[in-house]
Amino acid sequence: MSLDGKIATRLGDSELSSPEDWERVHRLRCEVDGILVGVNTILVDDPKITVRCDRPIVKVVADSMARTPPTARLITHRGKNPVLIAVGGMAPEYRVKALREAGAEVFKTGEERRVNLRRLMEELASRGVKRLLVEGGGSLNWSLFKEGLIDEVQVAISPVIIGGRDAVSLVEGEGFGSIGEAQRLELLGVEKAGYNLVLKYKCVGRSR
Ligand SMILES: NC(=O)c1ccc[n+]([C@@H]2O[C@H](COP(=O)([O-])OP(=O)(O)OC[C@H]3O[C@@H](n4cnc5c(N)ncnc54)[C@H](OP(=O)(O)O)[C@@H]3O)[C@@H](O)[C@H]2O)c1
Repeated sequence: MSLDGKIATRLGDSELSSPEDWERVHRLRCEVDGILVGVNTILVDDPKITVRCDRPIVKVVADSMARTPPTARLITHRGKNPVLIAVGGMAPEYRVKALREAGAEVFKTGEERRVNLRRLMEELASRGVKRLLVEGGGSLNWSLFKEGLIDEVQVAISPVIIGGRDAVSLVEGEGFGSIGEAQRLELLGVEKAGYNLVLKYKCVGRSR
């Protein structure tokens, strides 16, 4: 993220990592069993989320209405890595079908419109996903913090100021109303990765 907490510019440019930080991200991707992103990140960036490890890593999209395009690079470049699209109860059947035909698995987390993140975590755990890496964006990050589902945070700070009320921040949503309610963190470590400063924290004090 930028020094002022933005993870993309107002126009959606999110190239904030140094080559050294990308190496750290690739190492991290190989230490987990799954990677989760929000559907807006797919729609804006169309990321491949490349993994360079021997074992398969499941790639998961929180996508209530199944808006992930079947042509998304996450799906078309999946290789040996399964893609799971988590949808809500009102996802149109024709989109679900198109995603399945494109090679993704679709998992309905419940009858409510929004993806039920706790139910998704249970499902992933039952599939052997013990460590899940969340790669944003800000709206998904907020829901996960609100639900108390985050154990650790790593942020790579880039020495730039982006600004802009329409630029997405690390955590979006309505936010906590008081510092007392806010997610507290305990510093685990600090390292440099090229021009990025990487801060590692564990989450403390909210119910899991
Ligand atoms: N710099 C970085 O490292 C980095 C990393 C990732 C993303 N980004 C940037 O972040 C931006 C996207 O962030 P964003 O905040 O707009 O979107 P996001 O978090 O990627 O996706 C949000 C969407 O996820 C869906 N979703 C499904 N279930 C949800 C739940 N329980 N809680 C919250 N969301 C849920 C919602 O759409 P439905 O209601 O339709 O399901 C929601 O609108 C892009 O510009 C991208 O470039 C930057």
